[in-house]
Amino acid sequence: MKVLGIAGSPREKSNSLYYLNCALEEIEKAGIATEVIALRDKKIEPCSACYDCREARLCTINDDFGEIFDKMLKAEGIVLSTPVYVSSITVPLMSVLQRSAFVAHWGGKMLMGKVGAPITVAQRAGQNMALSQMLMWYFFNGMTVPGSIYWNVCIAGTRGARDPEKDEIGIQTLKAFGKNMSAVMKKIFV
Ligand SMILES: Cc1cc2nc3c(=O)[nH]c(=O)nc-3n(C[C@H](O)[C@H](O)[C@H](O)COP(=O)(O)O)c2cc1C
Repeated sequence: MKVLGIAGSPREKSNSLYYLNCALEEIEKAGIATEVIALRDKKIEPCSACYDCREARLCTINDDFGEIFDKMLKAEGIVLSTPVYVSSITVPLMSVLQRSAFVAHWGGKMLMGKVGAPITVAQRAGQNMALSQMLMWYFFNGMTVPGSIYWNVCIAGTRGARDPEKDEIGIQTLKAFGKNMSAVMKKIFV
């Protein structure tokens, strides 16, 4: 079994990557392999609405999306983590979600039955909106979304304004989420 983590921040050593790793560490402890893709390292174009995916069952735009989608298909679990930007998820992550939803849909609901949940990090506000945008992707794809002891929303700023390590509730929530996600995956896939 494998869980793919996708980090949506353009920043190196980003807060959303830190929190993603809090969840993935628990999943690893439960004996499930994990892999992280940071979108800051990838070239991702927006959906061009060409509808090629209806016939091709893949996206015909020539960039790094194909490699990410292949990894999504091979993983049993997918965890998304993003900073909140003006109450939304980041643009590259939204492109990945829109393109993968379309390819998977026209290909016969290719992501159906996988397990996963979103994580957001904000300095102050907009968590619920960004979280909802990602939940729409999970539900559209027929995926199972495990919960935690609280919503997977975390607090941190940039340049040390607020250190992610100080968000104890956020960290506890993600550890509990990682444990719950592992338990749900074992019930479904083992
Ligand atoms: C363009 C931009 C928009 C942002 N919009 C919000 C926002 O709506 N609400 C908020 O609380 N923080 C906002 N922030 C702050 C980031 O969400 C916050 O610093 C976050 O911890 C950065 O995470 P990262 O290190 O994973 O990139 C914004 C930051 C940027 C660069």
